[in-house]
Amino acid sequence: MPSLVIVGAQWGDEGKGKIVDYLTSNADWVVRFHGGNNAGHTLVVNGVKTKLHLIPSGILRHQAKNLIGAGVVLNPFVLLQEIAGLRASGIEVTPERLIIDREASLLLPYHEALDRARESALGDKKIGTTGRGVGPAYEDRAARCGLRVADFTDLATLEDKFRSSLALKAKVLLSLYQSEDKINPDQQWAALAEAREQLLPHIGNGSLLLEGALKRNERVVFEGAQGTFLDPVFGTVPFVTSSSTLAGAATTGCGVGPRALDFVLGVVKAYTTRVGSGPFPTELIDDSGDLLRARGAEYGTTTGRPRRCGWFDVMVLKRAVRLNGLDALALTKLDVLSGFKKIRVCVGYKLEGKVLDDMPALSHELDRVEPQYVDLDGWNEDLTGIKAWADLPAAARSYIGAIAEMVGCPISAVSVAAERRAMLFSENAGFINEFIG
Ligand code: IMP
Repeated sequence: MPSLVIVGAQWGDEGKGKIVDYLTSNADWVVRFHGGNNAGHTLVVNGVKTKLHLIPSGILRHQAKNLIGAGVVLNPFVLLQEIAGLRASGIEVTPERLIIDREASLLLPYHEALDRARESALGDKKIGTTGRGVGPAYEDRAARCGLRVADFTDLATLEDKFRSSLALKAKVLLSLYQSEDKINPDQQWAALAEAREQLLPHIGNGSLLLEGALKRNERVVFEGAQGTFLDPVFGTVPFVTSSSTLAGAATTGCGVGPRALDFVLGVVKAYTTRVGSGPFPTELIDDSGDLLRARGAEYGTTTGRPRRCGWFDVMVLKRAVRLNGLDALALTKLDVLSGFKKIRVCVGYKLEGKVLDDMPALSHELDRVEPQYVDLDGWNEDLTGIKAWADLPAAARSYIGAIAEMVGCPISAVSVAAERRAMLFSENAGFINEFIG
């Protein structure tokens, strides 16, 4: 059975959680391969809302095993809180159902303190991070001084490494940032040792487990976090996250080779949003933007921050198709556009009178591009109860067809409400139907 990679095609918050949840109805494995608890996936099943930050969305599917892959930076305290929350709502979280890769990196409280101190030192030049310590944790991994989940298996070495890292970070915090963060090494060590005890049974060898799963033809979903343009290399640098958000990262983030990835699905919102700072050519700072925010409940799952809202951008999507090798798109939140008389779509950029063939690499240039718009007809009908593609209003079908053609990628699925069931499939959804079938 083939494997499926699901990634966000814009700046995150595209609704990946719901799409992953839907497509895991028959999955054997759901794997997170990068990021940390900066991610926030909201799932609505039978009217009950679940928010996940670290645990793969497959935890809500009783047959699926869930792997937090080696590419993730794992905050053990947040993970334990998430496990406790799921158990309290009756979801089974056993070591068989939730495996943490031994090679994943640990994200510890001093990373959060550094993230916060650095952002406040940047003042109005801040990135607008989620403040979860993700950047500093990946820096430690690159600098080869970070702690890993494997360190949990050797208590004495863990304590030694933890105390020396903590002492060093306390010095950096004080000397560079005059940070007021109070660090009590004994208290912090006691908390980590306790968390370790609880997480030990979940530690596994992800790469080996996936090799076996793929050989047995089990269905594997690789669940991306954030979005294409938060990638630290190809995104809107420096207003990006610190792990690769592209489909290719599914290989290095859980220890499988590129041939293990059979199909790449991009999740894209019917309009555009972003949280935090950074360029956003089609942003609407007007009533239409407020309307999108209100109707789409565009507030961050992790931080609660209001999301910036704007029109759909074909330039962004064309680049996302190329960077990820997208085979198809799943379009989310189409229902939010009901009631707009005209729906604008950005089809190109001009900079100083010149037509651009791609997004500029410099953020301050992307800030200055002039979006070239076409206006498409809107529709008034409420889409939330619609059960079949053919029942969508003609103008909604035209909108879908027009953006698929301009972007150069088929749209195989459309989501019309937050509920798990509210998904429509087009006639070109062959792979997806087979995958969930
Ligand atoms: P960090 O990942 O917390 O370092 O934040 C870096 C940038 O990525 C900020 O603009 C965040 O708002 C953004 N970001 C990080 N995670 C997510 C996410 O899951 N959804 C949307 N934006 C995110």
